[in-house]
Amino acid sequence: MLITFEGIEGSGKTTQIELLSDYLAGKGYGVVKTREPGGTRFGEALREVLLRPGMDVDSLSELLVFMAMRAQHVEEVILPALQDGKVVLCDRFVDATYAYQGYGRKIDLGVIETLNRLVTKGIRPNLTILMNVTAERGLKRKAAASAMDRIEEEDISFHQRVKKAYEKLAKEDPKRFFVVDGSLKVEAIHQVVREKVGNVLKSYGV
Ligand SMILES: Nc1ncnc2c1ncn2[C@@H]1O[C@H](COP(=O)(O)OP(=O)(O)OP(=O)(O)O)[C@@H](O)[C@H]1O
Ligand SMILES: [Mg+2]
Repeated sequence: MLITFEGIEGSGKTTQIELLSDYLAGKGYGVVKTREPGGTRFGEALREVLLRPGMDVDSLSELLVFMAMRAQHVEEVILPALQDGKVVLCDRFVDATYAYQGYGRKIDLGVIETLNRLVTKGIRPNLTILMNVTAERGLKRKAAASAMDRIEEEDISFHQRVKKAYEKLAKEDPKRFFVVDGSLKVEAIHQVVREKVGNVLKSYGV
């Protein structure tokens, strides 16, 4: 079972993954928590370079590095965990590339689709939870919490484009996406998320 969390910076993905992971573990599920970019030793090392403020990175180079990291992540972490019957909670995955590199940086969506298919070896999220907040709210939360990384430093219109892109992706695949109002309180969101996840697990008989 692969459950991915998507949404712009500061939308609350990591907060909700932590809560959901504890909840599922408490119910006896084997849970693997992971994230992109990163998730492996190789990927986490590249992540530091990729997100380093002030680093000059061409859009296509950025895309290819993200995809290289994803290939490693799928092979080393996600596939083995799925084969092991684990519930994998992944903080960003394939949709982030469409939203950021596709709609954000305007790279051809067909190229992204081809590369995604190659590096994921055909695995698809069973459920994708989209934390939906305005770019203003997300960035304000992040600015209050920590220093900005290279992608967070993009101007507000970039983040607005990414937010719209996520909404579009969700509309195109309503069966897989579950859109949550990320402006609600942390605990209220957790309740909604765990109810949805409970239903999906049940529907798969796990
Ligand atoms: N529902 C919420 N209401 C108010 N603040 C929240 C909410 N959810 C998370 N936060 C706070 O907002 C900040 C960003 O949350 P979090 O790190 O979970 O977002 P994220 O989507 O993982 O961001 P990033 O993409 O940068 O990793 C944190 O300081 C967190 O405590
Ligand atoms: Mg996070």
